[in-house]
Amino acid sequence: MELDKALDLIAEVPDFPEPGVLFRDLSPMFADAAGFKAVTDALAATIGPEVDLLAGVEARGFLLAAAVGYARGLGVALIRKPGKLPRVAGRVGYALEYGTATVELPEGVVQPGQRVAILDDVLATGGTVAATCKLLEDAKAQVTGVSVVMELAGLGGRSVLEGRHVEALRVC
Ligand code: PRP
Repeated sequence: MELDKALDLIAEVPDFPEPGVLFRDLSPMFADAAGFKAVTDALAATIGPEVDLLAGVEARGFLLAAAVGYARGLGVALIRKPGKLPRVAGRVGYALEYGTATVELPEGVVQPGQRVAILDDVLATGGTVAATCKLLEDAKAQVTGVSVVMELAGLGGRSVLEGRHVEALRVC
């Protein structure tokens, strides 16, 4: 399937999880074998050769990072929401488009000096990815770049990540 057609499978849901927010629901794309493959292949192509590890952000980032990791022969660091990990190596709080949030890094998955590429579904305000960058850099990893399926340009995520390599399959 062409990438554009795969990205067209992503649904727009108004007023979720709050009035005024247009939620991008990737579920139909994930459920479509050809669509998921097209998105996975396109994301995998955004990851440079000099990467040691992927970081996937809970929850939809997990699926993307797992698929790209398999395609590229890379492991995945699971960047988690609070309260899920038995051993926490680091924790960073941040403001989200709606509310506040925290990301946590499990112990024993990132080694100092490792080159890590971050994967997530949507880049909105950039808070989640910026916090993930801090989490990884606190662990002395080197963030090589950020790849997302969709960037919501009006929310300013790219400026929050100024100076970082950001790849988006679609900019809305
Ligand atoms: C969504 C999305 C990104 C983040 C983007 O996560 O999956 O992780 O918001 O927003 P930001 O750029 O403004 O930080 P959500 O909290 O909805 O998590 P989910 O994947 O578990 O549904």
